[in-house]
Amino acid sequence: MTRPTSAIEHTSRRARALAAATATVRASYEVLNTFIDTYARNDIGFLNDGVVTDDLGSRSSNTPLPPSAALYELALGDCTGLDTLDVGSGRGGGAAVALGLGARRAVGVELAFAGASAALRENRGLAVNGDAHALGVREASIDVVTCVESSQFYSDLPAVLREIRRILRPNGRFGYADIFLASAFPAYTTTLVAAGFTIKGVNDVTTAAVAAFARRDLTREFHSPARAAIEQQIAGLTQLHRQLRSGRYCYVVIDARPGPPARHASPEVTRAAALVRLLAGASCRSSAARFTPLGTDHIDGR
Ligand SMILES: C[S@@+](CC[C@H](N)C(=O)[O-])C[C@H]1O[C@@H](n2cnc3c(N)ncnc32)[C@H](O)[C@@H]1O
Repeated sequence: MTRPTSAIEHTSRRARALAAATATVRASYEVLNTFIDTYARNDIGFLNDGVVTDDLGSRSSNTPLPPSAALYELALGDCTGLDTLDVGSGRGGGAAVALGLGARRAVGVELAFAGASAALRENRGLAVNGDAHALGVREASIDVVTCVESSQFYSDLPAVLREIRRILRPNGRFGYADIFLASAFPAYTTTLVAAGFTIKGVNDVTTAAVAAFARRDLTREFHSPARAAIEQQIAGLTQLHRQLRSGRYCYVVIDARPGPPARHASPEVTRAAALVRLLAGASCRSSAARFTPLGTDHIDGR
């Protein structure tokens, strides 16, 4: 007869499984960063392919930005004089964009030591080698938090979202950009609301992201087709972009704000989340690269 698992055993097994998942992600990003450090023609500041801004317009400048920087600009918004923090900051490109947009301080928290080192070496903001699940930052101390193409790797996404909510100032912003399974996107917005956020806008940039990937010349960046293929393989780019093109996945930038803390979903929040699901789902299915503001009076659950 097998002994029933105690609650403590169950919790510690779960904690071990989550830690193992995070360790695997860390190891693969140490490899990717080391490959880049060894073989890239020029220093690389971003680990996302970004968006082509021809149709999106640029908020702060007339000259088109490189695609990865343009994606960060969408996520950051105006951050003049503000304190910013990028979760899963990779090689620090996002912090550099924040400083370029006039941020007072730009901090990145990155799991892979090699990524945080590249950011520090190239002077792209203040990079901390840490884990999104425990940011180690004072409560209500940051104006703008961004998280770009990183959340898909978190072993406990709701915990990270609560952690981001905790460190944001009451009038702060969370610019959340990632690739979402289109059919599961509504569940992500519900998770955001449950973590204490109000969703101000959902910007579906799938078309612009696919265009950016098509324009990227990895062979040039890595000197040879063979190395380009290895980079593509380690970063899982082929698979990713096939999925985006197929419409099974969508690339979305979410503008979320601290809302009323919602530990247990109230009936209003549940109704609001249902509306968010409806609107966000509709927006996600349309692959038009444009901003789709959602009226806060509909969704903040007040
Ligand atoms: C696709 S890269 C994007 C990096 C950066 N945001 C960018 O756009 O250039 C994903 C990054 O998230 C980081 N990451 C994954 N899980 C993390 C965690 N638990 N805490 C902090 N960073 C994490 C990875 O190490 C990796 O650098």
